Amino acid sequence: MSLQPSRPPPALTFVNETPAHGAAIEALLNRAFGPGRFAKVSERVREVAEFAPDLSFCALEGGKLTGVVRMWRAAAGGQPIVFLGPLAVDQDQRKHGLGAMLVERACAAAEAAGETAVVLVGDLPFFQRVGFAVAPAVRMPGPVDPRRVLARAFAEVTLSGMVEARTSLS
Ligand SMILES: CC(C)(COP(=O)(O)OP(=O)(O)OC[C@H]1O[C@@H](n2cnc3c(N)ncnc32)[C@H](O)[C@@H]1OP(=O)(O)O)[C@@H](O)C(=O)NCCC(=O)NCCS
Repeated sequence: MSLQPSRPPPALTFVNETPAHGAAIEALLNRAFGPGRFAKVSERVREVAEFAPDLSFCALEGGKLTGVVRMWRAAAGGQPIVFLGPLAVDQDQRKHGLGAMLVERACAAAEAAGETAVVLVGDLPFFQRVGFAVAPAVRMPGPVDPRRVLARAFAEVTLSGMVEARTSLS
């Protein structure tokens, strides 16, 4: 029996999101979240926050998009924050650590850019593995289970108040 030479797995790379990734990201997000995607309270934040491509990452394997995390500059009660989401990994690439890696990349970029905290709406059992905790005083611009409003701070900051657009005063 002859052994087939095994092909190396495609290299995993992380790149900042550019407009060229837009169509593949839309397709991935539609597969991951389905039609209810735009009804989420996080979308209300994204409507007013400023998209931060410098903090947002795509995971590429062999040139194919397999994961994405987007970040948005916003404020909470006047304190500048970065709002994380959506985060998605393609179904057949899950449970290999890619979701956690994307969150870590985005948080590291935010910290390096001088941001002090990242806020999101998500499931604590997943996000507490990457340093997030419930942010009980942070409010969202729409109905949300407060146990899903999470934050990770890089500095001593008080996180409270409504998540909203960052103004020149924030
Ligand atoms: C959430 C998601 C990005 C995780 O991607 P991933 O590459 O599988 O993440 P990781 O490999 O780093 O972690 C996987 C672990 O997290 C767990 N996990 C995934 N989603 C979870 C959730 N919503 N709640 C609790 N645990 C979760 C998995 O069961 C797995 O656990 P295990 O390590 O004990 O097997 C991916 O499941 C996804 O795209 N889901 C659909 C979109 C979504 O829900 N995004 C998050 C929005 S808040």
